Amino acid sequence: MQTIQSVNEMQSHAIGLRSSGRLIGLVPTMGCLHEGHLSLIDIAKERADKVIVSIFVNPTQFGPNEDFERYPNALEADLEKCRERGADIVFNPTVQEMYPQGYSTYVNEEHISSGLCGISRPNHFRGVTTVCLKLFNITRPDIAVFGQKDAQQCAVIQKMVTDLNIPAQIVIGETKRGEDGLATSSRNRYLTNTQHEEALSLSKALQLGQRMVREDGVRSVDRVVAEITHHLSLAHRVRVIYVQVVDRETMEPAREIIPGKQLVCVAAWVDQTRLIDNIAL
Ligand code: PAF
Repeated sequence: MQTIQSVNEMQSHAIGLRSSGRLIGLVPTMGCLHEGHLSLIDIAKERADKVIVSIFVNPTQFGPNEDFERYPNALEADLEKCRERGADIVFNPTVQEMYPQGYSTYVNEEHISSGLCGISRPNHFRGVTTVCLKLFNITRPDIAVFGQKDAQQCAVIQKMVTDLNIPAQIVIGETKRGEDGLATSSRNRYLTNTQHEEALSLSKALQLGQRMVREDGVRSVDRVVAEITHHLSLAHRVRVIYVQVVDRETMEPAREIIPGKQLVCVAAWVDQTRLIDNIAL
């Protein structure tokens, strides 16, 4: 497995791979890799000849009071995991490489990114679309694989790819969960055992909502949202940011439940840690 830090080197290598007819799969990450990321590498390996994993904690997607400075870093362990899982290249540029002095160009999706996390994290998706477009231009992927846990991110990136005619296919890998149901996330590392227990209320509440729709035939968005919110309020360390039923492609808020077409998405603080999760209805 090769590791590349230089943008120019990565780009000329990718152009070379493409011109020799190789299909490139990209798995963009911010490192601190867990089973969720590794399952995305598996998907990329099934569909592409060469798999590039990018590891870059992207400063432009963090707000001023967010966790950029303390975002977990585990580069050596990450490289080992990528090697074991069969990645071909890890691209891990520095911030200076990606955003040299005087950098001033940003990409903004203006519709899907405005709701849900876009409300409490202004500029977050602008940072995500900007870095993803840069990564696409640098690594020239035929396919790029993202995780369903970040459902809004997936929808925003899909929209950017469509709107800007980017010649890459976006593939979505399912959310990986621990045995107790907690969605895997690099931020789970921040949780103490007690906070982890409380964080389980997210997946439990979502499952409750799914059962209301699938087993009890509930079609009222308000009832499902109220039940999930109530369940979350029973966990004392959890503060709800949003609970919303949305169309799974456009992320527009639903008026009534149409099974098979929607997600219920949740974001919540567990003490100082911000977690998100979602489930299909
Ligand atoms: O999901 C993430 O880890 C990040 O938002 C991404 C897609 C790697 C962009 O920095």
